[in-house]
Amino acid sequence: MKIGVLTGGGDCPGLNPAIRAVVMRGLDYGDEIVGLRQGWKGLREELTLRLTLEVVEPVINKGGTILESSRTNPTKDKESEAKCLENAKKLGLDALIALGGEDTLGAAHAMCGRGLNCIGVPKTMDNDLSATDYTFGFHSALSVAVDAADRLLDTARSHRRIMVLEVMGRHAGWMALNTGVCAGADWILIPEIPFDRDEMVDHVKAMKARGKEWGLVVVSEGVKRPETEAEGVKHARDEFGHEKLGGIGGYVAAAIEKDSGIDTRYVTLGHVVRGGAPTPFDRWLATRAGLKAVELAHEGKFDHMAALRGTEIVSVPLADAVGKLKTVPPELYEEAKALFNR
Ligand code: F6P
Repeated sequence: MKIGVLTGGGDCPGLNPAIRAVVMRGLDYGDEIVGLRQGWKGLREELTLRLTLEVVEPVINKGGTILESSRTNPTKDKESEAKCLENAKKLGLDALIALGGEDTLGAAHAMCGRGLNCIGVPKTMDNDLSATDYTFGFHSALSVAVDAADRLLDTARSHRRIMVLEVMGRHAGWMALNTGVCAGADWILIPEIPFDRDEMVDHVKAMKARGKEWGLVVVSEGVKRPETEAEGVKHARDEFGHEKLGGIGGYVAAAIEKDSGIDTRYVTLGHVVRGGAPTPFDRWLATRAGLKAVELAHEGKFDHMAALRGTEIVSVPLADAVGKLKTVPPELYEEAKALFNR
């Protein structure tokens, strides 16, 4: 078979091990694997990279993606869509393996409907893709965020300060919730739960009253300011129309300092968590998902995704993975609250 492979959306650790596994499994079958560079843009503009054993062999521990990435979505305009279909034919692709999150895999699902044989591999540091227990990239990003939180707590204690750590998470608060729980945060704010400033500040005041004038608050970048204060907050947009988030941490820190009188500082972690070597868990998950994707191609199981269910890698319809993001259920937030609302 001739199989194309692309990485789309925000990069994250694990992409290279997944590409490596696709190539290695493909070689077992005698496949030719063609890398499409810069996500769907690579198919649209025929930006290719021949993926040989020599190219992928050393990349198991490398962050980023050797194929580069972009947020190009070919289904946004008819011309791009047609160009992708035309180039897939021209390149002689029997199948296309797309490594991505909701947007990239949503496009893969739609392109299947247009006759392109797509298979999905789930990645995103946000862990917000449905139909899989975890996406690779999440665990690696979480490790960096927890390490940052631990460090911030050290200095918070020394100076009797509160540190606010803002982490990525546009629609889903998995990163903030898990970072906060793992680091022992005093408060966590996620996009799924409306921001109650009074509740947070009352808690910080209660901490102060019992002599604890230091602590950690973790906030997702996607958290919105309380209604009345949100007016006038405008984020710049990228070329695809997505808001460039960031800054809520500063607002949270100012609110805490103003109302509690405790010296409060903030850090925005941003893209730092998206780089670096993948953790062993992500290498394992990405590798197994990559192997499975090639097997699905040979079984003709297109419009499916390799997903993690428990400890097994199974195939699920792409339609189940896209369309609805996997957000943090309120019960899980309530459970975590037992730890931080003290
Ligand atoms: O890939 C997901 C993500 O990391 C989000 O959490 C974040 O909002 C977004 O990407 C940032 O995207 P970009 O790298 O395009 O600024």
